[in-house]
Amino acid sequence: LDNGLARTPPMGWLSWERFGCQTNCDRFPDTCISESFYLTQAELMVDLGLREAGYVYVNIDDCWAEKERDPNSGKLMADKKRFPHGIKHLSDTFHSMGMKLGLYGDIGSATCEGYPGFEGTFDLDAGTLAEWEVDSIKVDACNADEDLFNTTYPQFGRALNASGRSILYSCSWPNDYYERRHHWEIPDYLNHGIKQTCNIWRNYFDIHDSWDSITKTIDFWARNSSMDVMVRAAGPGHFNDPDMLVIGNPGLSLSEQQTQFSLWAIFSAPLFISADLRTIPPESLTILLNKEIIAVNQDALGRQGWCAEEKPLWRIWVRELTPTKSAFSGDDPPPPGSSDRWAVVLENRQSIFNARIMTFNPTRHLPTKAFNWNHFSVRDLVEGKDLGLYTNTFSILVDESSSATFL
Ligand code: DGJ
Repeated sequence: LDNGLARTPPMGWLSWERFGCQTNCDRFPDTCISESFYLTQAELMVDLGLREAGYVYVNIDDCWAEKERDPNSGKLMADKKRFPHGIKHLSDTFHSMGMKLGLYGDIGSATCEGYPGFEGTFDLDAGTLAEWEVDSIKVDACNADEDLFNTTYPQFGRALNASGRSILYSCSWPNDYYERRHHWEIPDYLNHGIKQTCNIWRNYFDIHDSWDSITKTIDFWARNSSMDVMVRAAGPGHFNDPDMLVIGNPGLSLSEQQTQFSLWAIFSAPLFISADLRTIPPESLTILLNKEIIAVNQDALGRQGWCAEEKPLWRIWVRELTPTKSAFSGDDPPPPGSSDRWAVVLENRQSIFNARIMTFNPTRHLPTKAFNWNHFSVRDLVEGKDLGLYTNTFSILVDESSSATFL
């Protein structure tokens, strides 16, 4: 979507995976979906250096609203007990902290958890979001007809554009289409206007805090990036969304957390942390704050990476980055495949005691349009170390269930 937003993948925090729809604040005062809860997480984003690193969106998910609309105006209302000062007050507070507020709704008649949806009130609701100075809206599709998505999602997008405020538009369009009806078929990203309509869009099932869930998502990306459609749909203003980062939660080992982060950088994916920042382990925070891997994710070309070679127990992923100045001059982006800078992830998928020597071979794994890859230098982005100059190939030992990320 060409609305000036998400020129690089958005970064921030999103409550859903970790906190779900807990609305009982009497029993769970510290984790229920409420104003004070989001404020606490936002303050920690500043204190822990996450805002500084680029994580600026604080995204509220389902269960923030009153079950009924305002009887007079028909407008959506935030739950009066849990958000006593309303959404506008919270967005003002976030803005004064240098952060942005994301909200959530549904393109159909109700959200997945049964709160009011946007159906029939697109203009009114887009106007309310603008009035509340919301910065981003995630639009689910739980109670909506998937055959109408290519009408309803663009229609709500037009209502957002007409609202007078720039609001990042996050769609569940391909995900819900794929999930419910057409498992055997990839939604048409390019011709049905998903990339023209949305800034980001979920493609696949909800992510959970388990290695099984992460690997299923990675497998989907590997299958479909070799088909090229998802890769071609991504670019500045419009990105595929493999769902939240679960880094900082108990479900993944540290090397699995690193693998998720490294691959989300290759995928040019939105980076939305879903973890409790009050208790996040320092090692997980270090992963999330790795400047060089964030820079890969945020590379200005916005070209999504792909799986360059796949075997049952390992994969090699590559992503094209902005070339060095000496290689290209002028403002135009270089033709696809011709850059002299690439990010590489060597993914070892074997889970038990099987560290593996993995070999990257530029002639084999990169399109060799413009450069002589006989000599290349390698930098380890996890360790932040230059590994030197190589001729023809580069090999390294990669731990089990792990990955290595290089430039
Ligand atoms: C389904 C979405 O995929 C999730 O990310 C979350 O937003 C829930 N709905 C909320 O009900």
